[in-house]
Amino acid sequence: MTFRATVLTLYPEMFPGTLGLSLAGRALAEGTWSLDTVQIRDFATDRHRTVDDTPAGGGAGMVLKADIIAKAVDHASPEGDARPRLLMSPRGKPLTQARVRNLAAGPGAVILCGRFEGVDQRVIDARGLEEVSIGDYVLSGGEIAAQVLLDAVVRLLPGVMGNLASGEEESFESGMLEHPHYTRPAEFEGMAIPEVLTSGNHKKIAEWRRAQALELTRARRPDLLGEK
Ligand code: ADE
Repeated sequence: MTFRATVLTLYPEMFPGTLGLSLAGRALAEGTWSLDTVQIRDFATDRHRTVDDTPAGGGAGMVLKADIIAKAVDHASPEGDARPRLLMSPRGKPLTQARVRNLAAGPGAVILCGRFEGVDQRVIDARGLEEVSIGDYVLSGGEIAAQVLLDAVVRLLPGVMGNLASGEEESFESGMLEHPHYTRPAEFEGMAIPEVLTSGNHKKIAEWRRAQALELTRARRPDLLGEK
């Protein structure tokens, strides 16, 4: 079954962007997933094709209009479409690997990319848009955030990642950050590869990696361990 992504944006030229290359690009070409863009401006009705207006109550920036966004969403995701409707926004719930896994197991996603100060709250409520953030920083729009989300999802689709084990062991899938990696040459600028990794003792190697992962996680992300 093809994972179907529809992206609503004022900048459809930004897509597929990075998603047209590498792993995601190959999967797109092979039909493992599909990507459509919808130009929000096509749903504007006035002569100037206006999509935004000044915020009620005053303040800086512009707000995407509820009526225009509703028409774009209804076009992209008519009633009965089982796909979740996401709104990329720094106000959203932070994206996690668990949510990514959950999305990858579904039929696809309809993704609205915010711009300007935000989107009229009424259309967020009326169309059940789930606000998703990719981190505690502000981008100039949701397009790159949408690509981040789709990249994370697409690599989990069946057949996309060649070596499945590398997915199971990586950061977050185990609830910990990944252990450090090494490869040849045996010596680099006077530094050797940790001896245990060249010992051939797989039990010792697994123990060492687990200990390293734990130490790294404790130092960088104690929150993942339920600490601090
Ligand atoms: N749009 C602007 N900033 C964003 C963020 N941090 N996450 C998702 N969408 C955004």
